[in-house]
Amino acid sequence: MVVQTNKPGAEIQPTMYGLFFEDINYGADGGLYAELVKNRSFEFPQRFMGWTIFGNVTLMDDGPFERNPHYVRLGNSGHREKHTGIENEGFFGIGVKEGAGYRFSVWARGENQKLRIELIRNDTMEERQAFESKELTVNSKEWKQYEVILKSPRTEPKAHLRIFLESPGTVDLEHVSLFPVDTWKERKNGLRKDLVQALYDIKPGVFRFPGGCIVEGTDEATRYEWKKTVGAVENRPLNENRWHYTFKHRFFPDYFQTYGLGFFEYFQLSEDIGAEPLPILNCGLICQYQNAPDQQVSLSKLDSYIQDALDLIEFANGDVTTPWGKVRADMGHPAPFNLKFLGIGNEQWGPEYPERLKRFVEVLRKAHPEIKIVGSSGPQSEGKDFDYLWPEMKNLKVDLVDEHFYRPESWFLSQGNRYDHYDRKGPKVFAGEYACHGKGKKWNHFNAALMEAAFMTGLERNADVVHMATYAPLFAHVEGWQWRPDLIWFDNLNSVRTCSYYVQQLYAHHKGTHVLPLTMDKKAVSGQDGLFASAVWDKHEQAYMVKIANTSDQAQPVSLTFTGLKKNDILADGKCILLQSDDLDKDNTVGNPEVITPKESAVAVDGHVLNATVAPRTFVLYKFVK
Ligand code: AHR
Repeated sequence: MVVQTNKPGAEIQPTMYGLFFEDINYGADGGLYAELVKNRSFEFPQRFMGWTIFGNVTLMDDGPFERNPHYVRLGNSGHREKHTGIENEGFFGIGVKEGAGYRFSVWARGENQKLRIELIRNDTMEERQAFESKELTVNSKEWKQYEVILKSPRTEPKAHLRIFLESPGTVDLEHVSLFPVDTWKERKNGLRKDLVQALYDIKPGVFRFPGGCIVEGTDEATRYEWKKTVGAVENRPLNENRWHYTFKHRFFPDYFQTYGLGFFEYFQLSEDIGAEPLPILNCGLICQYQNAPDQQVSLSKLDSYIQDALDLIEFANGDVTTPWGKVRADMGHPAPFNLKFLGIGNEQWGPEYPERLKRFVEVLRKAHPEIKIVGSSGPQSEGKDFDYLWPEMKNLKVDLVDEHFYRPESWFLSQGNRYDHYDRKGPKVFAGEYACHGKGKKWNHFNAALMEAAFMTGLERNADVVHMATYAPLFAHVEGWQWRPDLIWFDNLNSVRTCSYYVQQLYAHHKGTHVLPLTMDKKAVSGQDGLFASAVWDKHEQAYMVKIANTSDQAQPVSLTFTGLKKNDILADGKCILLQSDDLDKDNTVGNPEVITPKESAVAVDGHVLNATVAPRTFVLYKFVK
């Protein structure tokens, strides 16, 4: 193989490798969003879903938060041996850690009423179920928020939260909440620290939210509406989650969106992890069923959808004197979020989509020429190809086109050169959802990650046309998944980075600033002898980086010649990072998180030539500093 160091090609966009977030697999509520109480506002259609009630408990509906009107009234049980209270089961239980603090908060009213707040194990044979207990006095005729910190003396993955009324009177409770104190950046209404850390550690260039299909919803009423997800968290209305009944074999009737993790939090998270925010908005079509007339928003009704897009730009970028800029400032972020990209529509097909997108484009181009618009090429799956929307996207002159592919190994192996012949003058590519779904192996395993690594050499080589790429989906709860494979798995206490995660991380950490021509027998390396390869130059680090995926079952001798260097130029600090597994079907698990991780070692060149052997089924990265 030959790397031409004196011919740096296309610039690699800082956005190139990023993250796709969707509330699927309990990715938000029960996952990234650190709230531990399920149905905290009693707004699930079955109002006590997630709760066990006992004694004298009444459901009320004239609470202090207009969009979440339900609350509970705890009254005197009428007998000294009877008790009144409520108990929450959390999301697959409540995970608590020894020595950690948990902020219990509740909106309440009552006159000098005593509550006992407990962390319990209700499946224990021990004499006492409660392992942490605090008293809380409610003494306000008006609604007021109360707070107490619980400290867990032990680690329990499946605790419950129990609240007893200890005094003889009446108390009203609303928005019953429990968060770890130690959230990401210790924010209230915060995010789970280990999960954000995993995102941060990728160094992602772009963060796409809030999905996926949930952008579109199951019907118009349940589409994602960003305006409902900002402002006081207590007053963000509940929405159904499009994923709670999609797959009958993984059916979760208690999966809803509280919007506690909403657009403000998504923008803030993007900022925290150093990624460009990329919100996707509904284009007036509903997920997957759009051919039915009742699943389309008529063109005459589209104005409010377009207004949502304009208002979102104001929310993100407007100064504090603008109405939506003020909402952002009041939420604690007076500085703009500096939004640059906006996606309209997720997976649409047929003429209905370009028809609607056109309206958005016309208005947005006039009002906000600075915003880059992301359109969509439609979904792709075996047997179907919706690429025909590309010409429409070109006509509309969108800036980027979002392509999705969840395909088997054979597809990934055949698509290493997918972008070599894409039109350089049209919109750029956002490979917005992809993952290798192994044939007959629809779960995370090393070989799938290797296929992705091979395919990504083609993304990198074509950095002039591919500007963004995001693996999907991002998160999955081990007890609550509907879709796999996924990038990061977690239970109530732990999380694990998969082989696919490490592939994404290796690319993102070594993305470089410019593509370098890399050839084998004068051709791009895209499948010859099962090898896929790409090379980049990083002008800041003055480093050359070469990625090679050997997808074959044979060890491959590789002689890598760096041409175009001066005689005295030294390739120093050589390192080699390997990702490989003795078992192709294996991956890391929550119980065993470090079975397959990148291994780094030093490597030396002979002058300007690296002679190496790439082991079978291996992804390897070489880096040298000039
Ligand atoms: O990533 C899971 C789903 O796959 C997304 O919601 C959707 O866009 C695609 O069909």
